[in-house]
Amino acid sequence: MALVMNSQRLFLIIISSCFVALSSSASLPVKAVNLGGWLVTEGWMTPWLFDNIPNRQMLDGTQVQLKSLKLNTYISAESGGDSVIVANRTSASGWETFKLWRVDETTFNLRVFQGQFVRISTKSSRLVAMATNPTASEQFVIIRNSNNPSHVRIRAPNGLFVQAKTTNTVTADYSQEGTSWGNNDPSVFEVAFVGGQLTGEFQLTNGYGSGAASVLTNHWSTYITEDDFRSLANDKLTAVRIPVGWWIASDQNPPKPFVGGSLQYLDKAFDWAERYNLGVIVDLHAPPGGSQNGNDHSGTRDGTKDWGTDESIDRTVGVIDFLASRYRQRSGLLAIELINEPWAPDVSLDKLTKYYRAGHQAVRKYTPNAYVILSNRLGHADRTELLQFAKDLDKSVIDVHYYNLYSDMFSSMTAQQNVDYVKNDRSKELSSIMVADGPSVFVGEWTGEFGHSGGASQKDYQTFAQAQLEVFGRATFGWAYWSWKNNDAHNHWSLKWMIDKGYISL
Ligand SMILES: *[C@@H]1O[C@H](CO)[C@@H](O)[C@H](O)[C@H]1NC(C)=O
Repeated sequence: MALVMNSQRLFLIIISSCFVALSSSASLPVKAVNLGGWLVTEGWMTPWLFDNIPNRQMLDGTQVQLKSLKLNTYISAESGGDSVIVANRTSASGWETFKLWRVDETTFNLRVFQGQFVRISTKSSRLVAMATNPTASEQFVIIRNSNNPSHVRIRAPNGLFVQAKTTNTVTADYSQEGTSWGNNDPSVFEVAFVGGQLTGEFQLTNGYGSGAASVLTNHWSTYITEDDFRSLANDKLTAVRIPVGWWIASDQNPPKPFVGGSLQYLDKAFDWAERYNLGVIVDLHAPPGGSQNGNDHSGTRDGTKDWGTDESIDRTVGVIDFLASRYRQRSGLLAIELINEPWAPDVSLDKLTKYYRAGHQAVRKYTPNAYVILSNRLGHADRTELLQFAKDLDKSVIDVHYYNLYSDMFSSMTAQQNVDYVKNDRSKELSSIMVADGPSVFVGEWTGEFGHSGGASQKDYQTFAQAQLEVFGRATFGWAYWSWKNNDAHNHWSLKWMIDKGYISL
């Protein structure tokens, strides 16, 4: 009897020690840095990656407005979509703006304000914006005048050119192949590129097509190496937050245009992190099935904020399941962040918490130790909206991002006002999120750059960074600087540069 009990106990001990995976050596709060622009493309950080894309000006999501040279009016999707295309607008705004979906370097789908695609009417040669999915019937070839690339002609899928006959009718029935590109040719349009161009993973991979794999493999293997892990550990950082895209879960053969191979580099990151006693926060920046914020780092094709359908949530849980399963045994695994910067109101709190609950469960299937990070919504959302919900999820963490940027408020402040803002407003807000018995709190993104009127000296940057280190140093889970590296135009965004140049010391 005693023997049986003992062996049962032994059995239980064996079971539980198998289940308790190793936990990361990083202790809380972490001093971390983001490895941004590495495994998820962000063109503003690595613009050179886009240099050799043919017709670089026309990537997926590029927004164009087209003015008829003959009529001097803009092409417009009447009602923003689900109706006819007209040419009767004297000024251009949303309904006059078309988003490109790139088929190849000269062939595009044109997406209108409400999301439909332009095609030829089935009853006449008029253009309409009625298609919900782009097929061969929605492919237009945009031919640029080599002497003046802002003048274009558009060949419709029937082989004929689009013309603005009258302000009421835009048709695909202009058969003259040749043109002198004169102002009287109804098939000549002036193209204007508007809005910021998206330069994310989709734009890069679809822009290069079959050449994308070698561009990205070269980038992954050189942008961040073991040397970076060694030197950031030397600089007294204790963890890295690594943005990844959903396609990493279908390495080696992700759906087009994405390319495989980044998984190998995430594996290496774990090896290197463990060698230098750093924790790893794997952060899903780009979810499948839609974009949660429309930003290029979400892997979006055209900036539409369409993540949050049941299908997209299920698929995203699948990616988290993959990541948790793959890295559950790794001592470097500190946390998995379920999704980065969901945007309110496009991503509803309901959908998000549904996803967070399922994502947390997916991580817990494999490890009781990894923290599960829940990003607060950006946009119009209450900063404390997840606190109550997160109480039910063990080892959950709320992630907040603090930038003194992207608003006129900051760009009209002096450097000292920015410092004061951090010490007062940010500090107060952070305190309001850190409640007794609540989840721990992570300032998962902040940077040394800030908006300001008038100049800012090196001393100003030092003072501003120091104020942030003090305030964000109180966050219970810790903080992560954005980012480890950046290009010369964005030096203050590079923690490596800021440390090397003596702006920041830890
Ligand atoms: C443009 O044409 C459409 C269709 O004929 C019409 O409904 C609309 O009112 C016109 N808009 C302007 C600004 O003329």
